Amino acid sequence: MYMIRPKVIINAAMSADGKIALVGGKRIRISDDADFKRVHELRASVDAILVGINTVLMDNPKLTVKEKYVPDAKNPVRVVLDSHLRIPAEARVLNDAAPTIIGTTVEAPERSLNAEIIRCGHGRVELKCLLRELYARGIRKLMVEGGSEVIYSFLSEHLADEMYIFVGSMIIGGSAPTLAGGTGAREEEEVLRMKLLSCEPLGYGVLLHYALGGLR
Ligand SMILES: NC(=O)c1ccc[n+]([C@@H]2O[C@H](COP(=O)([O-])OP(=O)(O)OC[C@H]3O[C@@H](n4cnc5c(N)ncnc54)[C@H](OP(=O)(O)O)[C@@H]3O)[C@@H](O)[C@H]2O)c1
Repeated sequence: MYMIRPKVIINAAMSADGKIALVGGKRIRISDDADFKRVHELRASVDAILVGINTVLMDNPKLTVKEKYVPDAKNPVRVVLDSHLRIPAEARVLNDAAPTIIGTTVEAPERSLNAEIIRCGHGRVELKCLLRELYARGIRKLMVEGGSEVIYSFLSEHLADEMYIFVGSMIIGGSAPTLAGGTGAREEEEVLRMKLLSCEPLGYGVLLHYALGGLR
């Protein structure tokens, strides 16, 4: 059934072997300046940017628009999926640079944080509920920046419309997190198929752009 929700655009950078971080999850710079410029322009064009709690714990991102790439841009709202409210109070995503929303669950503990807390679902944040709440707050365009588990959730629940993948010319190898984690497909029918919209050289890599909407 059709649901009213923000348009969802996934964006990530991966190595040529599909990894988005180093083995163990430590951050690595995969994008180059040309791609960072594109990412920050995309950030400046959306109403909110969403990441999972592991990305906050591993990378401690600010999720703001860098002046260097987009002068005088307004920072979008930041959204973190954090089912048990584990986020450290000093996380940079909770600074005053932009409003922050934490999507959590009904049973998560009460905490006072520099963020609005929205409770959706039991055990794990229910994405459909959270998207409805974000829409109700005026968020019409949402950028999902990772990590691996969160990207898989949006893809497998058919809640994303477009995806940009920057493929850096490097190999990471081993058990490093891939673009899409989660449970993955065991049967061919569970494979998520996408429509390639464009593929162009960018900086030292390649930018892939996919349409996802309505693919089941
Ligand atoms: N190269 C890139 O573009 C890029 C971008 C971002 C991140 N990264 C990398 O990605 C890695 C982190 O990825 P990750 O897969 O470990 O973690 P993640 O996707 O950042 O966060 C996953 C966590 O979010 C919480 N969550 C709550 N509701 C969820 C839902 N409905 N679906 C999915 N997750 C939900 C869960 O923890 P709770 O149960 O505790 O809530 C889950 O374990 C880091 O190494 C980071 O460096 C790379």
